[in-house]
Amino acid sequence: MAEMSFRAPGALRLGVNIDHVATIRNARGGEHPDPVRAAHQAADAGADGITAHLREDRRHISDADIDRLMDEISLPLNLEMAATEEMLAIALRHKPHAACIVPERREERTTEGGLDAAGGHNHLLPMIRQLTDTEIRVSLFIAADPRQLDAAVQLGAPVVELHTGPYCEAVIDGNEEAIARELRTLKDAATYGASIGLEVHAGHGLTFDSVGPVAEIPELAELNIGHFLIGEAIFSGLDSAIRRMRSLMDRARAGTSGRETA
Ligand code: PXP
Repeated sequence: MAEMSFRAPGALRLGVNIDHVATIRNARGGEHPDPVRAAHQAADAGADGITAHLREDRRHISDADIDRLMDEISLPLNLEMAATEEMLAIALRHKPHAACIVPERREERTTEGGLDAAGGHNHLLPMIRQLTDTEIRVSLFIAADPRQLDAAVQLGAPVVELHTGPYCEAVIDGNEEAIARELRTLKDAATYGASIGLEVHAGHGLTFDSVGPVAEIPELAELNIGHFLIGEAIFSGLDSAIRRMRSLMDRARAGTSGRETA
């Protein structure tokens, strides 16, 4: 099994989500653009892992994409999946490095949009046990909420991914008060999560403008970024978009500014 950490302890890993390469491919059918080719390019550009979400409706990534990602890429695969029997069987068959359980239906979500790990305990527990027994590293995509962090520990999940959507929306709105509040919430959750033994990741909606302050949070081990990078690739190419994101993350983590000034 591929190991996720090629970086020094304390460094921040970048998982590149390639879902929306498949979205563009599926708009016409056929094979172009190929998400597996994007995964190879992401590896060359400095990504530490590849993330793909096999949705129940297969709107972007397909089962064949997962087969090929498992066979052809050297980076660890983080499979995003709903907590369903179908997805569990697929994960157990493929044994990706990690499985990130995400909500796909409204009733599985908290008001902030993350997985309701607290409310879904009885449903999630046997799935998390089976994934863990198969040596798949389980992560739960949750709101930056201490109740959800406690629930992740009770479920035996070693990793959580904090939902950065509310913070990213505040950045898009230019609402300084909301930016400060959401950033504080993320920082507090990362600190609390690490203090109770969780490995803490973050992602959703991150861009060149919003990544710096998140990357500065020292307890975060990994960011997962997709839509913006694939969109930016239209203008600057995927390699360049990933390299710039990587550099912003590294500069923020090193204590120099990771905020875009241009
Ligand atoms: N993390 C999780 C759990 C996600 O579901 C997604 C979106 O698929 C991302 C990160 C990446 O979000 P974005 O595509 O907005 O960068």
